[in-house]
Amino acid sequence: MASHRNVLLYKLWICFITILYFTETLSQTDNYIVHMDLSVMPKSFSGQHHWYLATLASVSDVADSSTARASEATLTASSKLLYSYTHVVNGFSASLTPSELEALKRSPGYISSIKDLPVKHDTTHSPKYLGLTPQSPAWKASNYGDGIIIGLVDTGAWPESESYNDHGMPEIPKTWKGECESGTQFNSLMCNKKLIGARFFNKGLIAKYPNITISMNSTRDTEGHGTHTSTTAAGNFVEGASYFGYAKGTASGVAPRAHVAMYKALWDEGSYTTDLIAAIDQAISDGVDVLSMSLGLDGLPLNEDPIALATFAAVEKNIFVSTSAGNEGPFHETLHNGIPWVLTVAAGTLDRGFDAVLTLGNGIPITGSSFYLGSSSFSDVPIVFMDDCHTMSELIKIGPKIVVCEGAFDSNDLSDQVENVSRANVTAGVFITNFTDTEEFIGNGFPVVIVSLKDGKTIIDYIKSSNSPQASAEFRKTDLGIEPAPRLTSYSSRGPSASCPLVMKPDIMAPGSLILAAWPQNIAVDSNNSQPMFSNFNILSGTSMACPHAAGVAALLRKAHPDWSPAAIRSAMITTADTMDNTMEPIKDIGFGNRINPATPLDMGAGQVNPNKALDPGLIYDVNSTDYVRLLCATNFTEKQIQVITRSSSTDCSNPSSDLNYPSFIAYFNEKNSPSNLTIVREFHRTVTNVGEGTCTYTVSVTPMSGLKVNVMPDKLEFKTKYEKLSYKLTIEGPALLDETVTFGYLNWADAGGKHVVKSPIAATSLSPELSLKN
Ligand SMILES: *[C@@H]1O[C@H](CO)[C@@H](O)[C@H](O)[C@H]1NC(C)=O
Ligand SMILES: *[C@@H]1O[C@H](CO)[C@@H](O)[C@H](O)[C@H]1NC(C)=O
Ligand SMILES: *[C@@H]1O[C@H](CO)[C@@H](O)[C@H](O)[C@H]1NC(C)=O
Ligand SMILES: *[C@@H]1O[C@H](CO)[C@@H](O)[C@H](O)[C@H]1NC(C)=O
Ligand SMILES: *[C@@H]1O[C@H](CO)[C@@H](O)[C@H](O)[C@H]1NC(C)=O
Ligand SMILES: *[C@@H]1O[C@H](CO)[C@@H](O)[C@H](O)[C@H]1NC(C)=O
Ligand SMILES: *[C@@H]1O[C@H](CO)[C@@H](O)[C@H](O)[C@H]1NC(C)=O
Ligand SMILES: *[C@@H]1O[C@H](CO)[C@@H](O)[C@H](O)[C@H]1NC(C)=O
Ligand SMILES: *[C@@H]1O[C@H](CO)[C@@H](O)[C@H](O)[C@H]1NC(C)=O
Repeated sequence: MASHRNVLLYKLWICFITILYFTETLSQTDNYIVHMDLSVMPKSFSGQHHWYLATLASVSDVADSSTARASEATLTASSKLLYSYTHVVNGFSASLTPSELEALKRSPGYISSIKDLPVKHDTTHSPKYLGLTPQSPAWKASNYGDGIIIGLVDTGAWPESESYNDHGMPEIPKTWKGECESGTQFNSLMCNKKLIGARFFNKGLIAKYPNITISMNSTRDTEGHGTHTSTTAAGNFVEGASYFGYAKGTASGVAPRAHVAMYKALWDEGSYTTDLIAAIDQAISDGVDVLSMSLGLDGLPLNEDPIALATFAAVEKNIFVSTSAGNEGPFHETLHNGIPWVLTVAAGTLDRGFDAVLTLGNGIPITGSSFYLGSSSFSDVPIVFMDDCHTMSELIKIGPKIVVCEGAFDSNDLSDQVENVSRANVTAGVFITNFTDTEEFIGNGFPVVIVSLKDGKTIIDYIKSSNSPQASAEFRKTDLGIEPAPRLTSYSSRGPSASCPLVMKPDIMAPGSLILAAWPQNIAVDSNNSQPMFSNFNILSGTSMACPHAAGVAALLRKAHPDWSPAAIRSAMITTADTMDNTMEPIKDIGFGNRINPATPLDMGAGQVNPNKALDPGLIYDVNSTDYVRLLCATNFTEKQIQVITRSSSTDCSNPSSDLNYPSFIAYFNEKNSPSNLTIVREFHRTVTNVGEGTCTYTVSVTPMSGLKVNVMPDKLEFKTKYEKLSYKLTIEGPALLDETVTFGYLNWADAGGKHVVKSPIAATSLSPELSLKN
């Protein structure tokens, strides 16, 4: 979107943060998520909620030995308690002064506490493409995700959106325990068979800033993000959707017959983890099948990451969880949600481009990228060549002409040029560049056209050879089938995951760039000459947009295979992902202005999710909660830290294993101070379950990985029956310190008929995210 708008928003935000900051320093209290050991709860309490209240009353600052004040303390306790959690945490959240927190730490049953933290969603700066058509297996076998409930923790929903129409929707499942809560400008009649749940959570936010005014105290979306993500996952069919003429067609979510339940925990006024996990807690109680969370917290260990804690409970309850990798790419180790029990999704491009056609005075048409929303064409405008377009004093002399600029080779150059030219009051700017990650520059209130070096030369030759060079332009062109696609976006956060380096992340890639989905009617999508512009659809980019695509695919798989665990669904998505683009070349990474290097598994995971293939993966790598606990036991987490995640006071760590039965592999060759000729061996054990036909034989193949010796034992798996499990061992031998940052390959199990190829990415790396393993 327009960079101007972002700048404005950013300034408002800074202002806001400053106000809140002062409020906070005055109030002295803060919110904490407190973990309690339920096995210590005295029998006299009728339930944990009462125990938490009594505990809070006993530590309250107003509590003292005089019984006269005991009732006051109880009253204070109930105002201090924000949420008693049921599923996600054995414990509660409360607003506490420093002395109350200290007293609480000495209370019976106290395990640990973490301070409330702010959360932000992952938007930055489609179905047909994924092979989903009425004839496709994934939509057929799942009947469009019929009856599956996708819960989203987000900014809310705009219930009037056409994408929430319930035409053709099944009845609401009998097992659904959710509600459509009323609130400001929202009542329960606004839900229907598509939008079946709407709840909102802001007690934590309000406790943090007692004087705050919540502008929309309901599930109604005043930001747009939640409307966009939820309709990406499960929006119903809407004919004639478009964004100012761009991306015209029938819009629909990935699972158009799935129900949507919205849990609003992200607010214009701020977002906090106490509210976030209350939302997840409620979604579990309500009975969602899939959770989609386009948000994350950076730099937290698993036991302090509220998303890791809350989703452990969700996955134990058989709920599939999709999360976004984050938008901090293209550098390594920037990923969040590196959580072994969720799906972590990277963002790729679509094969769709938004273009303008520039017709030179000599009749030659040139197509460039543009996302201009203003007047759809102009004709016979003088065109001038200005080289690097850096001198403002010269630019402002040009007047109503098209300016052609050259010499931008990276995002900084291009951003300067676009910025300078758009301020110069010229008619349009044409920018010649070999830089390909240009998405953030084309969405502008000012007409920007980005062209290749080759087309740029044609334009410059024409200008130099003509006495009165002119050009016409037509905007709002949508190009489909552009090549190569998909590509991994530059902004998509990269692995390895610092919070759990043992598991390769991200898992997969899904479309995230320039995604069209529903948008609230009264929230401006852009502005034109300072006039706000409105649209029922908006085009956004980010891993926030990739996450609900994957959630939609999971809904289709859940419907088609109701007996599969969340890990089995994830495995099917990973082992069938596409690694080739539409030119049959390895999918490229556009990070660092690159156009030739393939994306590695640490960038895009296993590849682009392919719902039709995921329906029938042949073999799956299953994992249950015992396996996750064994993994946690192998790390250096203390028993108490593990207890916070598992919520069980008797964690069995007798059988630790750092080798999770995951459908991908990450091997570290990062021993810096070892002799150069030292070789080391990394070993992995896996068990696959046959979910295909009864009797079948799979044979292994591994793509060569330079400098490494890769071996699989046995090299053949002969299954006699469906659901039979067989195991194998992968060994990777290599130098103690790998030369390259990342070397990668794929391990494929192929059945005799070639019907199934079960593909696992292998990443070997010299990177050293802190490996917190027990010695
Ligand atoms: C909140 O507002 C009340 C009344 O307007 C005022 O007395 C109090 O100081 C304010 N608190 C903070 C933390 O600003
Ligand atoms: C928001 O709505 C809830 C439920 O209707 C109500 O309990 C709460 O007091 C309201 N909060 C504010 C700040 O208006
Ligand atoms: C933008 O504003 C200009 C001038 O006010 C007007 O001519 C043009 O039609 C507007 N474009 C859109 C898409 O509203
Ligand atoms: C054009 O942009 C560059 C980079 O921001 C800046 O250094 C230069 O001063 C700008 N030109 C003028 C005259 O403002
Ligand atoms: C921009 O150019 C138009 C005519 O092309 C002129 O009317 C207007 O005053 C100019 N604005 C500025 C800020 O120079
Ligand atoms: C673009 O061209 C410049 C100058 O020739 C070169 O240094 C740069 O590597 C090129 N970038 C890409 C992405 O091809
Ligand atoms: C997980 O699977 C293992 C066998 O792979 C089994 O022993 C264990 O009981 C299972 N745990 C749960 C919680 O189902
Ligand atoms: C490795 O290098 C050391 C010293 O450079 C040498 O003594 C040793 O024999 C070498 N080992 C092998 C296996 O080549
Ligand atoms: C685990 O190891 C990491 C890395 O060495 C360290 O930062 C962390 O503090 C350790 N945690 C515990 C609980 O010892």
